[in-house]
Amino acid sequence: MKKWIEKIQNSINLEELEEIRVKIFGKKGILAQEFKKLKNLSNEEKPKVAKELNELKNRLNGLICTKKDELQKKALQEELIKENIDPSLYSPYNIKGALHPVQDTMDRIVEYFISMNFSIENGPLIEDDFHNFEALNLPKFHPARDMQDTFYFKDEMLLRTHTSPVQIRTMLNNEPPIRMISPGAVFRRDFDLTHTPMFHQVEGLLVDKKQRVSFANLKFILSDFLKYMFGDIDIRYRPSFFPFTEPSAEVDISCIFCKGKGCRVCSHTGWLEVLGCGMVDPNVFKAVGYKDVSGYAFGLGVERFAMLIHKIPDLRSLFEGDLRLLEQFR
Ligand code: DAH
Repeated sequence: MKKWIEKIQNSINLEELEEIRVKIFGKKGILAQEFKKLKNLSNEEKPKVAKELNELKNRLNGLICTKKDELQKKALQEELIKENIDPSLYSPYNIKGALHPVQDTMDRIVEYFISMNFSIENGPLIEDDFHNFEALNLPKFHPARDMQDTFYFKDEMLLRTHTSPVQIRTMLNNEPPIRMISPGAVFRRDFDLTHTPMFHQVEGLLVDKKQRVSFANLKFILSDFLKYMFGDIDIRYRPSFFPFTEPSAEVDISCIFCKGKGCRVCSHTGWLEVLGCGMVDPNVFKAVGYKDVSGYAFGLGVERFAMLIHKIPDLRSLFEGDLRLLEQFR
């Protein structure tokens, strides 16, 4: 038995110890063999030898447990030393990330309107003809649809061309008053220096009882918003046309590159167009079943804002994922 005790104590790893344990305690192990021999002994001897065997069994078991514990601790220690890392070590790959300029600009826009108590609404990117066009006073074959050619699916479904359909969805699902914005992706068949097939807009809509909402309210909120985004600038409202608003306006800010003196970016006009807006057209209210209400709406392109704020000349570069551009926004 001394041999086995020594073997246990001298084992150097868990595998070896396990082999020894099986040899002692296994079905055909030495203890099992010793216990088998009991039946050959006389009745006086049997209890004495059995007791000794049991004591031996307990002792060996105890030794194995203690050794196992010791070897496990040793193995863990070795593992820790092997895997040791130095967190203070310099790594050339330790690059800090940043929000994409479009996301960052979107966040700033949303932040402003949240502070003015507007809710955030969302709508599907795959829209139907009714929400994207019809309910917005853009009937089939209306020439204004030409400006918003898009990608079509079966059954009059299409990739939405603007975030304006979310106005319709919000009005159909809620009672007035409404004060919402809707940020999101939109799609058009366009691709050049200032157009990509996918871009982002933020839509705004405010509806309340008749006579409660005026063009002056619209001018106040948009002018305040544009100063929040661009700082100290001049703002002008230029009469325009959108099928879903009447009257409609486009909003210009004084060119932030030349301070209104005239340069290449503003085509020497001193002004940059930044959004469209107007008083909600009665036909839109009719389409959603609203009566005795008034409201204003506006829509803007997020990429255009991002390009102006960060002075990025080519819109397409925003979607190329080129780290040399993106690294500049860290
Ligand atoms: N939906 C328009 C577009 O994509 C933008 C727009 C203009 C939205 C005027 C409006 C608005 O709500 O009143 O060009």
